[in-house]
Amino acid sequence: MRDYLNESSIMSYLIMMTPRLLEMKRVLKPIGSIYLHCDPTASHYLKLIMDAIFGIKNFRNEIIWHYRRWIAPSKIFQRLHDIILFYTKTNDYTFNMLLTPYTKGSIERKKSGILHRFKKGEKPYLVSNKEIQTEGVSENDVWQIPFVAPSAKERVGYGTQKPEKLLERIIKASSNEGDFVLDPFCGCGTTIAMAEKLRRKWIGIDISFLAINIMQNRLTKNEIKEAKDYEIKGTLYDIYSAEQLHKKIRIISKIGVFLKYPMLFLLIKKVPIKELMDLYIFKI
Ligand SMILES: C[S@@+](CC[C@H](N)C(=O)[O-])C[C@H]1O[C@@H](n2cnc3c(N)ncnc32)[C@H](O)[C@@H]1O
Repeated sequence: MRDYLNESSIMSYLIMMTPRLLEMKRVLKPIGSIYLHCDPTASHYLKLIMDAIFGIKNFRNEIIWHYRRWIAPSKIFQRLHDIILFYTKTNDYTFNMLLTPYTKGSIERKKSGILHRFKKGEKPYLVSNKEIQTEGVSENDVWQIPFVAPSAKERVGYGTQKPEKLLERIIKASSNEGDFVLDPFCGCGTTIAMAEKLRRKWIGIDISFLAINIMQNRLTKNEIKEAKDYEIKGTLYDIYSAEQLHKKIRIISKIGVFLKYPMLFLLIKKVPIKELMDLYIFKI
């Protein structure tokens, strides 16, 4: 790959990502899952790396996140999707099947005992009773979720903000109340806001001051308070705090904490220290 990609920006991106994905595998519990969001320019390279790190047999889905946006006409088909690679650490992973509610028409047909299964020229016929008893159909791997619109209530003013619906779906599918959710590139904190709402514990990491400020405001708005409900570690305000962080990193890295890279901020939901010690990131 190196020969082919040379010293390009995609190569440096992959070099930046690989050790972080290795760390993500290390900190993931055996029942855990990882969802890696990327766009079609990098997804095929990242899939090779994910296969190498997590194993081909632990690849679960390539989720297509399809959205609408205005694009100036050009000589290609409009690019209106991103990719989310879903891997697990083992075969024994948490998975809550999500259901897409039936359409009005399906519900009507369901009432009369006939569910929407058509073939051209054939009458609708009854599908299995099991399917009729459920509240909807199993979610598939193409997700239609709109971008966060400029006027949306959830918009917090961070360029790469992801829709809450997207994170809600991922968190609900792959964790239960009380589980830990970690987002190592958490931007304005959509993952942690949704993890909090869904009663998960959470850790968010980002390299940007702006992201941390926006995240703090977002949490405050939701009445989640610093010191009482969560802590921020690693913020650099001046030379003194940089030196302190440098010392801390040295100490922390001795006990194998995830926070290895300088200039990282870590937001962490307050949980009893024993639970943190159970977390794999705190193991040597
Ligand atoms: C695509 S955005 C994440 C958006 C997020 N899902 C949200 O809803 O806001 C990627 C984030 O990764 C952060 N980032 C980039 N390089 C990083 C690094 N080496 N370590 C930690 N965070 C990094 C950026 O500051 C940015 O906020």
